[in-house]
Amino acid sequence: MYFRVVFAVLSITVAIAAKRSYKGYSVIKVTPKTSDDIATLDEIRTKGVGEFWDDQFYINYEARIMVLKDNRKRFNDLIEKSSMESEELIKDLQGAIDEQMIPAQRSSSSETFLGMTWNQYYNLDEINQWLDEVAKTYPTIVTPIVMGKSFEDRDIKGVIIRYRPRTNSTRPLIGMLEGALHAREWITPATITWIVKEFLTSRDREIRALAENLEWHIFPVVNPDGYNYTFTTNRMWRKNRSTRNFTSCAASGVADDMSNGIDLNRNFDSVWMSIGASDNPCSNTFAGPVAFSEPESRAISTYVDRLNAEGRMIYYYSFHSYTQLFIIPFSHVSGQDVLLAENYADMYEIAIRGAEHVFRKYSTTYRVGVSADVLYPMSGTSFDWVKNATNIPVSLLIELRDLGQYGFLLPPEQIIPNSLEIMDALVVMDNTTRSLGYYSYSGTNSIVCSFVIVVFSVIMSLLY
Ligand SMILES: *[C@@H]1O[C@H](CO)[C@@H](O)[C@H](O)[C@H]1NC(C)=O
Ligand SMILES: *[C@@H]1O[C@H](CO)[C@@H](O)[C@H](O)[C@H]1NC(C)=O
Ligand SMILES: *[C@@H]1O[C@H](CO)[C@@H](O)[C@H](O)[C@H]1NC(C)=O
Ligand SMILES: *[C@@H]1O[C@H](CO)[C@@H](O)[C@H](O)[C@H]1NC(C)=O
Ligand SMILES: [Zn+2]
Repeated sequence: MYFRVVFAVLSITVAIAAKRSYKGYSVIKVTPKTSDDIATLDEIRTKGVGEFWDDQFYINYEARIMVLKDNRKRFNDLIEKSSMESEELIKDLQGAIDEQMIPAQRSSSSETFLGMTWNQYYNLDEINQWLDEVAKTYPTIVTPIVMGKSFEDRDIKGVIIRYRPRTNSTRPLIGMLEGALHAREWITPATITWIVKEFLTSRDREIRALAENLEWHIFPVVNPDGYNYTFTTNRMWRKNRSTRNFTSCAASGVADDMSNGIDLNRNFDSVWMSIGASDNPCSNTFAGPVAFSEPESRAISTYVDRLNAEGRMIYYYSFHSYTQLFIIPFSHVSGQDVLLAENYADMYEIAIRGAEHVFRKYSTTYRVGVSADVLYPMSGTSFDWVKNATNIPVSLLIELRDLGQYGFLLPPEQIIPNSLEIMDALVVMDNTTRSLGYYSYSGTNSIVCSFVIVVFSVIMSLLY
């Protein structure tokens, strides 16, 4: 009984644990130019002078740092001694977080569909309820699906959009969308729910073709615990909420809570922990104790393996933010080694068309390339793993708006323009993929075919 009471009190304490305030914090951008600058950034981090939005530093790659007013002088002193210049991007971080919760003014282009508008961001329960509503409204086209459970036992929910019932004689063409693998990237579920709406309601001939030609497996939030945590407790959370490696983070200069969580986009079994990932639980890119240690990444891989056996996967789009990039596999290579991806040139062509069409809409610039060239090298990511495990023709990581002015705190006014330009990209990328023959081409089959032909000719030549 006593224990029960203590437990109850403890749980209540946890439940009312304060939402982390970012009052007094600003966000500052610096660009390291030398290895000394990198050392300075490391010092800023480990001494707890500032907290980084991304905790891998590279020369000539912008870093964004949250700095508390009380630490500003120490921060400025360290920066002054380096060759870096600093620019304050967000004066009042908590103010920017609060503002992101205020719905945008309705504009004429705003839309509502089954109670959702794209003038505001929605929490996990709201998104899941909307998915149920979508499935109920379109029972013959939409099937609700739970991919698996998270660490904290939440459903990883999605919908299948299928205009053509499966038959036994043909293998369906399949596309899959993944959002919010990183919890704080709120624009990703907003974009994916927009795509769901378009696939069900658009009258545009090309969007209809994209929706109807493939069977779509769509998961707006694959990291439900982390996403929920960004609403209840810490807006800037990236990882999942695994408690397995809870430890003191004093040496890393961050709160101990940082060790609760694993970067799911470093946890896949794709050259795991080889580059651009951390073995420090206090880091934002902690890859986990082993590849696929996390229930969320295992759920995705099991699901993808099953789809790949049932049909022919054409698209895997992993949505992230921010930086405006179409990233091509594989993320640990650059230079000549990009050809490690067998159809690299085709994927490049497809993504470049996407970027061109994004630009046509609102002059938003997206860059295209492998991660090591356009961002930084990474390992253990979902889209690289999918590419390698399934030989899917088009697996891309798409970093949505913006270029870092607001970063994760993208204002709600930008949800619709962001979604419209991405929809244009998906359509033109599909046209390109089709014209390259990927709807009918099957890599494995043609290899088997050529093998059969070779064997056949060898036998024939022996006979004659
Ligand atoms: C994060 O990963 C850990 C390790 O498996 C897992 O126990 C935990 O449930 C995950 N957290 C979330 C929020 O998914
Ligand atoms: C498809 O195959 C399954 C199992 O082999 C069978 O039960 C089912 O009746 C078939 N469906 C059609 C439409 O032929
Ligand atoms: C994390 O936890 C696992 C299992 O408890 C352990 O095997 C592993 O060594 C830990 N990793 C780190 C970096 O602390
Ligand atoms: C691709 O898969 C093979 C076979 O599992 C593995 O040996 C190889 O390391 C993987 N490559 C990448 C880039 O993940
Ligand atoms: Zn991300």
